[in-house]
Amino acid sequence: MKEQLKEIKQRGMNEIQKADSLKELEDLRVKYLGKKGEVTRILRGMGKLSKEERPIIGELANVVREEITNALSEAKERQEEIALEIQLKDEIIDITMPGVKKEVGVLHPLNQSVESLEEIFISMGFKVVEGPEIETVENNFDALNAPKNHPSRDLSDTFYITEDLVLRTQTSPVQIRVMKNAQPPIRVISPGRCFRNDTPDATHSPMFHQLEGLVIDENITLGDLKGTLDVFAKRFFGDDTKTKFRPHHFPFTEPSAEMDISCFKCGGIGCNICKGSGWIELLGAGMVHPNVLEYCGIDSEKYSGFAFGMGIDRITMAKHDIDDIRLFFENDRRFLKQFK
Ligand code: PHE
Repeated sequence: MKEQLKEIKQRGMNEIQKADSLKELEDLRVKYLGKKGEVTRILRGMGKLSKEERPIIGELANVVREEITNALSEAKERQEEIALEIQLKDEIIDITMPGVKKEVGVLHPLNQSVESLEEIFISMGFKVVEGPEIETVENNFDALNAPKNHPSRDLSDTFYITEDLVLRTQTSPVQIRVMKNAQPPIRVISPGRCFRNDTPDATHSPMFHQLEGLVIDENITLGDLKGTLDVFAKRFFGDDTKTKFRPHHFPFTEPSAEMDISCFKCGGIGCNICKGSGWIELLGAGMVHPNVLEYCGIDSEKYSGFAFGMGIDRITMAKHDIDDIRLFFENDRRFLKQFK
């Protein structure tokens, strides 16, 4: 019996030493000291021992129980400390560490322009409409009064998809779509992508953006055109902006003009932005040609109107003093970041 107790103690201590989790220690407690545990069993069996043996074995068994109990609680404490240490290490917060900066993106400068253009024209009663980027030759050229031999129709200028379909070279075909489907009064703007077979350089890109404007009603005059575009220029570029109209030619407007604005940087004295002239060329415009109205089923005796088309890329470059159109399409964040 003595030997057995010694052996139990030895084994118990060993196992407790080796245990490396609270769960294992609890299992060992049950194994040795639980109701059916090995030490408990010996203490229960004391009745069967002789009078002489009982106190000796009893004492020894009690000592073994105490030793195992102590060893268990020490080991338990150790395990709890280890667990706490692991937990503390896991949850450590180094308050000296630099924070992770969340970079907030910005609306692309071209989209910023479109937003402010829409705001300006909507406040003047215009509606925003869109047309497809793949357009019929009819809408892109024929209906717009472009002569059959007009150079802009050339393969070298226009991307043809089939004989009858092109990537639109301007937003003007949206005028046709609107006029074919609605009777005056009409007051719309239409921003969107356009495509021309140009070699990219600082001022050309095969894909660019235009914003078209169209107003058709009774008694619309060149004065309305000038007034509307003058308000637009002042709202977009600043109140001091002056506008100037130069005669020009477009097949679908008569008369036609190009509008310049006084240079917002030098105020007209001449600088690098206006290339010394004091003026910046901004857009094309004119009174809608009667042929175009009639083609779309609008009575050109009763109605008249004006149209304008501006390069969104161009006016954005002018506004922000950007000298290369390609910057808009490279999406270099160092460039885009400036437009916060
Ligand atoms: N579509 C013309 C261009 O691309 C611009 C324009 C639009 C001119 C409307 C007059 C009226 O150059």
